[in-house]
Amino acid sequence: MSENEQRRLLKERRSIRRYDSRPIEEEVLTEIFEATRWCWSAVNRQPWKFLVIRNKELISKVAKECTTGTFAAEAPVLVIIVGDVEAQPNWYLQDTCFASLQLALAAWTFGIGTCFIGNINRDKVKKLLNLNQNDYLLTVLPLGYPYGDIPEPRPRKSLEEIVEYFD
Ligand SMILES: Cc1cc2nc3c(=O)[nH]c(=O)nc-3n(C[C@H](O)[C@H](O)[C@H](O)COP(=O)(O)O)c2cc1C
Repeated sequence: MSENEQRRLLKERRSIRRYDSRPIEEEVLTEIFEATRWCWSAVNRQPWKFLVIRNKELISKVAKECTTGTFAAEAPVLVIIVGDVEAQPNWYLQDTCFASLQLALAAWTFGIGTCFIGNINRDKVKKLLNLNQNDYLLTVLPLGYPYGDIPEPRPRKSLEEIVEYFD
């Protein structure tokens, strides 16, 4: 990837909420996780797990619990990111958030879209997946090739609004 393409990756990724039913190739999925596992984390503890759901019935059950992301039902793959609170009580939230972005960017390099779903009935999903009460369910990331056009970018704050130099 040229420098220009790397920069475009960061600027042109969009949240994707409509997915083609085309499955994601096994090798591609592996490559996405391979790139994700190089994410940074506090004291390199890597307090994360990625649960991959491809079973249609389970996808539909989990999607029903995504209150602001029922579109997840259409995705061929759901990735649930779980933080190990015991292993990293101070930074599990930051670490898993970073991992979610790394995963989203890695997926985008393969033309695969996702969307961070924030509002989830976490206890219900944890029950469906037999997760530990102590585990933190960060997000459900639906993965899929985009269906239709890539959405127009949402507006961003200007540089003047967000960057302040102290020279
Ligand atoms: C912490 C967080 C929570 C989010 N929750 C949701 C959500 O529940 N449902 C949804 O459709 N999008 C959700 N989003 C996606 C944002 O709406 C989206 O990233 C933002 O509007 C910018 O659009 P873009 O990602 O296409 O650049 C969430 C994003 C983040 C980072």
